[in-house]
Amino acid sequence: MSDVSLVGKQLPSAPLEAAGPPYFADGLWQGTVEIMENVQLAQDTFRVRFRCPEIARKILPGQFLMLRMSGCNDPLLGRPFALYDTTQSSSGAADGLDVVYLVIGKFTSRLSQALPGERLDVWGPLGNGFSAMPAEHLIMVAGGIGQTPFLAVAREALELRRYGEPLRRRPRVNQVTLCYGARTQEFLASVEDFQELGVDVRVSTDDGSFGHAGLVTEVLESVLDQSRLRPTILCCGPEPMMAAVARISSDRNIPCEVSLETPMACGVGICFSCVAKVRQPDGRWDYRRTCVEGPVFGGQQIDFS
Ligand SMILES: Cc1cc2nc3c(=O)[nH]c(=O)nc-3n(C[C@H](O)[C@H](O)[C@H](O)COP(=O)(O)OP(=O)(O)OC[C@H]3O[C@@H](n4cnc5c(N)ncnc54)[C@H](O)[C@@H]3O)c2cc1C
Ligand code: FES
Repeated sequence: MSDVSLVGKQLPSAPLEAAGPPYFADGLWQGTVEIMENVQLAQDTFRVRFRCPEIARKILPGQFLMLRMSGCNDPLLGRPFALYDTTQSSSGAADGLDVVYLVIGKFTSRLSQALPGERLDVWGPLGNGFSAMPAEHLIMVAGGIGQTPFLAVAREALELRRYGEPLRRRPRVNQVTLCYGARTQEFLASVEDFQELGVDVRVSTDDGSFGHAGLVTEVLESVLDQSRLRPTILCCGPEPMMAAVARISSDRNIPCEVSLETPMACGVGICFSCVAKVRQPDGRWDYRRTCVEGPVFGGQQIDFS
């Protein structure tokens, strides 16, 4: 593994009054890593694994990293991907990263063909991640490839692993449910990873090929109707789905966080390509950079219109 010139240096951080707490790109590591594994999980869906202790020991669930093919300028810009999970050394220290990705365009197509030993440029950890708020019943709602930030969330919530530097302790939740909607059964990826942790996985597919036939929000409403515990909702997926989940949480007065998948060019607050319309504490709307002030926002903070 070799580092590039920015290693050990901090990229310029945004003014604190605009960016909030100073955790965004302040602890950033940038370097080149070797792919260890790149395996197919489902239709057009892969998991890439690489050793990267510098990011692995710092990253929190819901944070992301930028990836690009090393030595290749097409595509030139990095692409953002959520932490799927960290891997651990024999001593239990976080030493590697897993990213699960859906092939949709140039970079993800190229990555899906990459072999072990090929190199990636990586920078992270980036963004704020999900808060570690107390919850009795943590309900994660995912659409499409939106399940990827939730494996580490579940592992932490069930006290199976701690993340961050220093290691963060989040209050244990009693129950964790994943409501996971996909187009068809062929696109369902990593369901077993969640089940192995003890997560209650409820699936919906648009075509009814597996689980509930219909919308994942219908599954969410039924889970909420049945739950006797105090729920908290986390959500990631297509914007119309997140808008619907934010509405449900507002109607039922349930805390909700959403993780936006806004396209990004730099990931560190410089280019303003990633802005989203966010409600400010005084009630006004303003545009905020998803890469440094998100990607996680309160469900009621985002204007999805
Ligand atoms: C914080 C964050 C975390 C993410 N985590 C993951 C993850 O864990 N796994 C994963 O598979 N993807 C994730 N994404 C989305 C991922 O970054 C894009 O799929 C990736 O950039 C596509 O690159 P590409 O070169 O293959 O496609 P491109 O060639 O760049 O794009 C192909 C087509 O898809 C459209 N497109 C590109 N990005 C997006 C987007 N974010 N939303 C809607 N349309 C888009 C483009 O406009 C274009 O039409 C995340 C995005 C963000 C912001
Ligand atoms: S991606 Fe460049 S400012 Fe957010």
